[in-house]
Amino acid sequence: MKKICVVGSINMDLVVTTDRFPQPGETLNGKEFHTYPGGKGANQAVAAGRLQADVRMVGKVGDDMYGQQSIANLRENGVKSDGVFVDSGVSTGIAVIEVDGMGENHIVIVPGANGRVDSQFIDGQLDSLLENDIFLFQLEIPLETVFYAMKKLKEHGKTIILDPAPARILPVEIFKYIDYITPNEMEMAIVSGRKIGTLTDIKEAAALLQQKGVGTIIVKAGKDGAYIISDKDVIHCPGSTVKAVDTTGAGDSFNAGLAVSLARENGLKESVRFANAVGALSTMAKGAQNAMPTLEQVLSFIDK
Ligand code: RIB
Repeated sequence: MKKICVVGSINMDLVVTTDRFPQPGETLNGKEFHTYPGGKGANQAVAAGRLQADVRMVGKVGDDMYGQQSIANLRENGVKSDGVFVDSGVSTGIAVIEVDGMGENHIVIVPGANGRVDSQFIDGQLDSLLENDIFLFQLEIPLETVFYAMKKLKEHGKTIILDPAPARILPVEIFKYIDYITPNEMEMAIVSGRKIGTLTDIKEAAALLQQKGVGTIIVKAGKDGAYIISDKDVIHCPGSTVKAVDTTGAGDSFNAGLAVSLARENGLKESVRFANAVGALSTMAKGAQNAMPTLEQVLSFIDK
């Protein structure tokens, strides 16, 4: 099995549940409050760990309780965490999350130590990074660092998966380093600079990204599954209906599922189906890392 490495963010999620989201200026009574280990990078790593992958996390936490809890949770889930550094004088990344009665969320993040994952840090980690094969990136560490790390890794022929979340406009030079990009429709609109309303819009936006050098585009479509768009065709991999309680981290678990299946040398269609199942199952419990399914759960879900 190929080795997976996640380069990215580690947060503690401060989560309140509420029947509905407040309007601007409105105060509401929430229902519950929990803290859960989160961060798009660490979520991907824990999801891959629960799927029994060989996975390493590279990133930073602050010198505080949340940082220690985040590292402990990575380890408990089988993630190699010697690439996670504790940086003093800064907090661990924090995400303040509201989850409504439909399981949808609003998220505000404060990057903290994630903002200190810089190119010098990547240089210091390069030897151990190069021991891995498939790399997962997201956009909660500085964009310059993502760009720098991808460039270095691509020079060594590594496979790069980018989840462009939280979405932002990307420098055109970055696209040629990306083998797989996995936006949802909203993120696709931002990274491509095109309005997305229909499947034709998605295809045209994907063609633009391909012209810029991206390998394969996989557009996540929530309960509708995902679309694989290559220069040859568009393949729809349908999703499954589950009773979603909390969609936080669903995109992260999708990416982990994709990487894990590719690491096992499965084909792309099969890998996206597997990723769909991992993403769907992760919405059935509260919290991000807390809700990531095990390999047994995913296989039995696919069987059914
Ligand atoms: O994708 C979900 C994640 O986004 C949460 O865990 C939160 O930390 C934010 O980074």
